[in-house]
Amino acid sequence: MELRQGIRTTPATRAFTETAISDETLYGILDDARFAPSGGNRQGWRVIVLKDPLLRTAVKELYLEGWYQYLPQVAAGLTPFSVVNDRIEEAEVRAQAARFAQDAANGPGGFAENIDKVPALLLVLADLSALATIDRDLDRYSMVGGASIYPFIWNILLAAHDRGLGGVMTTVAVLEEPALRELLTIPDHVVVASLVALGEPETIITKLRRDTVEDFTTIDTFDGEHFAQ
Ligand SMILES: Cc1cc2nc3c(=O)[nH]c(=O)nc-3n(C[C@H](O)[C@H](O)[C@H](O)COP(=O)(O)O)c2cc1C
Repeated sequence: MELRQGIRTTPATRAFTETAISDETLYGILDDARFAPSGGNRQGWRVIVLKDPLLRTAVKELYLEGWYQYLPQVAAGLTPFSVVNDRIEEAEVRAQAARFAQDAANGPGGFAENIDKVPALLLVLADLSALATIDRDLDRYSMVGGASIYPFIWNILLAAHDRGLGGVMTTVAVLEEPALRELLTIPDHVVVASLVALGEPETIITKLRRDTVEDFTTIDTFDGEHFAQ
């Protein structure tokens, strides 16, 4: 696939056929993804390929813990887990998780409830000792560390797309990182970046909804004139 076409048409795919992804294909995807950039080229990503059905089910349960706290926040009009959220308001909303879990239990379940059954499931980790986190001492939330890992994950999705496959990077399971750590013997200096699902898309999504360049680009100052053609 032509590169520009690829980056403009790689969606979050959450519905897959039952076609398996071979180890050879998965290896090839990771082999492409490893050319991602990282601070100082330290390549601090680590990947656990989740194959054991029991482990997958346990990981799904942890995913759902985060998911059912995410959903009520969306329903309440919040940006879920935003660092600028009013934490008291957010906590009240998150307390509705049990109701959302119950509603889901009454239906067939969606991607989240079936994430253990996706063709390939990867837990992507970040070795903190390999991350050049230049903003770590600023008196604010750190942004830079993750930037050494998420391009790698995006490359996984691009490499999958190039093979006619699809997937999604997810993060709600990170809420349960301590339990994931114990379950999968992850050492203390390694943190969870994403749970990535991959498979053959059930339907091909061709059009992505995105803001225009003018919407997010200004000239000279943050409140400057919009940068337009
Ligand atoms: C940092 C990050 C975290 C995300 N976490 C989740 C998640 O936990 N669960 C999920 O289903 N999708 C997750 N997504 C996927 C986004 O919802 C998706 O990229 C976005 O809605 C755009 O979808 P589209 O490319 O199909 O338009 C995440 C994406 C990113 C980049």
